[in-house]
This record gives sequence, structure tokens and C-alpha cells, in this order.
Amino acid sequence: MILVTGGTGLVGSHLLYQLMVNDKPVRAIYRTEAKQEIVKRVFSYYSDDYLNLFNKIEWIEADLLDIPQLTEAFKGIEYVYHAAAFVSFAPNDYHKLRKTNIEGTTNIVNLCISKQVKKLCYVSSIATISDPENNKYITEETHWNAEKDNSVYAITKYGAEIEVWRGTQEGLNAVILNPGVIIGSGIWNHGSGFIFKQVFNGLSYYTNGHIPCVAVTDVVKSMITLLEEEIKSERYILVAEHLPYKTFLNLIANNLDVKPPHIEAKTWLLSLAWRLDWLRHKLTGKPRKLVKQIVKSTQSETIYDNSKIKKDLNFQFSPIENHIKKVAKNFLKDNATT
Ligand SMILES: NC(=O)c1ccc[n+]([C@@H]2O[C@H](COP(=O)([O-])OP(=O)(O)OC[C@H]3O[C@@H](n4cnc5c(N)ncnc54)[C@H](OP(=O)(O)O)[C@@H]3O)[C@@H](O)[C@H]2O)c1
Repeated sequence: MILVTGGTGLVGSHLLYQLMVNDKPVRAIYRTEAKQEIVKRVFSYYSDDYLNLFNKIEWIEADLLDIPQLTEAFKGIEYVYHAAAFVSFAPNDYHKLRKTNIEGTTNIVNLCISKQVKKLCYVSSIATISDPENNKYITEETHWNAEKDNSVYAITKYGAEIEVWRGTQEGLNAVILNPGVIIGSGIWNHGSGFIFKQVFNGLSYYTNGHIPCVAVTDVVKSMITLLEEEIKSERYILVAEHLPYKTFLNLIANNLDVKPPHIEAKTWLLSLAWRLDWLRHKLTGKPRKLVKQIVKSTQSETIYDNSKIKKDLNFQFSPIENHIKKVAKNFLKDNATT
């Protein structure tokens, strides 16, 4: 039996779909039943038989921070995909990020060890290996630099990785994936789906950097392959392409049939924007929309070397342009029905 965490998220729902197509016995944790609708929606993009596939999943209510619930979820489990996380770059979310990402992963790792799970696949992020100020070329060997201005998200994903590596020292077989921005359909209020929504709603600005991105289907393919292979205690960068933001946003706009962003957001404008956003947050108490590290990342030209996974798994990434086309089509379909 396979356990999936984060099954109601972008990566997890696509992973569940592929596991169901492969006819694997799967238990998935969830927190609220309403979120399972996302999974049905994602399945429906790929199959008319989506309800039957969805109904084959064994769902169990569990929070990463609830050890009794998690212990129940781990009964009879041999393999674990850990894709659950809290994704936020807002400094105010630091405490919740630490709890979910570090403590939550500690709980997963501890249960994997005590239940003698055969292998854990943990989805991390390229955020944990970014060192853009000194190094414009990143490989799996690039070290975390604690002295840099890391985002709160990156700090906690790095802390989670430390927990996974600690597990390997205690005998756990584990692999870590470090994807770039994951392009996929089904979740339109955050992540890459939100970029599609913003472009659709008339985003005017683009930035000068490039976006290291990968299709969600490639993330899932590599997760499944890595769990099945004899590989352990390794990490893999998952970045298919580094697209200039202008190209990326133009592709989205063209496929959504809307006007592409046409004004370059210069460095001074972006610096002003995140400071004004901070001030708005301080004065109104409303959540931050733009933080310094996000602004920096949209201007970054860092290259993430993807040769290790290509070599070790004979892995081929699918072209992002094709994937953007499919995601835009799904966005328009969902937008028309809501
Ligand atoms: N999306 C990207 O571009 C990207 C890029 C690089 C790395 N990653 C990593 O990839 C993984 C999957 O990301 P995603 O985009 O699929 O995220 P997502 O769409 O935001 O989904 C997050 C998932 O985690 C679950 N979760 C959050 N807190 C939890 C808790 N305390 N207990 C149990 N479940 C909890 C959520 O459950 P609910 O539905 O109940 O909230 C949801 O299923 C994450 O580890 C993320 O850091 C993502």
C-alpha cells in the first residue's frame, strides 16, 4: 500500500491520477472533504472514467501535525510520497510554515522509520538550493547558503530536507526532488495556476528574469520512477526549461486569447512595489501580496542543471509550450463553468 500526502494539491492530485491509472493500491490523506473536488476536477481533465478512478482511492482524514491520525494513516504502508506542504512567502506565515513543513516532515520521517517503510519520496523545491548572489549555475551539489536573504518558504523546505536526510542516517531509504515552478491545471488560486488567472484578468507587467519551470506530469513521472528504482539518498533537480518571463507570459496570453503583458517592470518599480505592499500590510493588516524574495526571483537568471535526472533515469522532459497550451485550455473550460 502506498501513502500519498498532499493529494488535494497540484502535485498530489496529478500523482494520484497516475497511480490510479497504474492500478496501484493507494491511501491518501485529506483535511477537508471539499478539497477532494479538486482531485475529481484534475482527474476529469484526463479521463471520462474519472469518478471510477477517484473512487479507487482510500481516503483517510489526517493532518501532518496530528500524530495519532498519521499513525492510523500509516497502517500497512510500504511506500510514501510526501507532497504536502504549506506554500507561502509571507514573513508573517513563518511560524505556520515551520510547523507544517519542518514539523510535519519530521512526523512523516519518524513514522516511515518506525513503520519500516521501504522508501520515501519527498517533494522539496529548487528554493533550497538557490544561491543566486554568488552562483548563477546550480547543481544538486550546490550548498544551501544560510547567510543569504532566503525566503521563509525556502528556510522551511530546507529544514524539511534536513529531516529527510536525518531519516536516511537512521536507515530510511529516501529520495528528494527539487522542482522549479510546476506548471499544471486544476488549482487557479495559487501557484502557477494563479499566473494563468492573472494573465487572463489583464496582467500588464512582465519582468526581465526567467522562470525555471517543469510540467506537473513530468514531476509525477519522476516521482513514480524514483520510487521504483534502486536509487536512494539522492536529490534531483527538476527543471525542464528556463523561459524568459516575457516569453512565458506571452505563451499563456496567446493560448488564453488575451493581450500579453506589455510593460517591462523595471528594478526600481519592483523595489518600490514590494515596499509599498509592505506598508499597505502594516497599515491595513491585510496579507502581503509581494515580498522581496519573490521580486528577486522574477529577475533571476540562475540556471538549474537538469542533467543528473536525465542521465540517471534516462529522463526526458516534455516541452513546456505544449503543457501551457493544455493548462490554458483547462483554465478556459473551468472559467466557463464557474
Ligand atoms: N507548485 C509549485 O510550483 C512547486 C514548486 C516547487 C516545489 N513545490 C513543492 O511541491 C509540493 C506540492 O506542491 P503543490 O503545488 O501541490 O502544493 P499545493 O497545491 O499548495 O498543495 C498542498 C497540499 O498540502 C496539503 N497540506 C498542507 N498543510 C497540510 C497539513 N498540515 N496536513 C496535511 N496536509 C497538508 C494541502 O492540503 P489541503 O488541501 O487540506 O490544504 C494540499 O493537499 C510541496 O512540497 C511544494 O513545496 C511546489
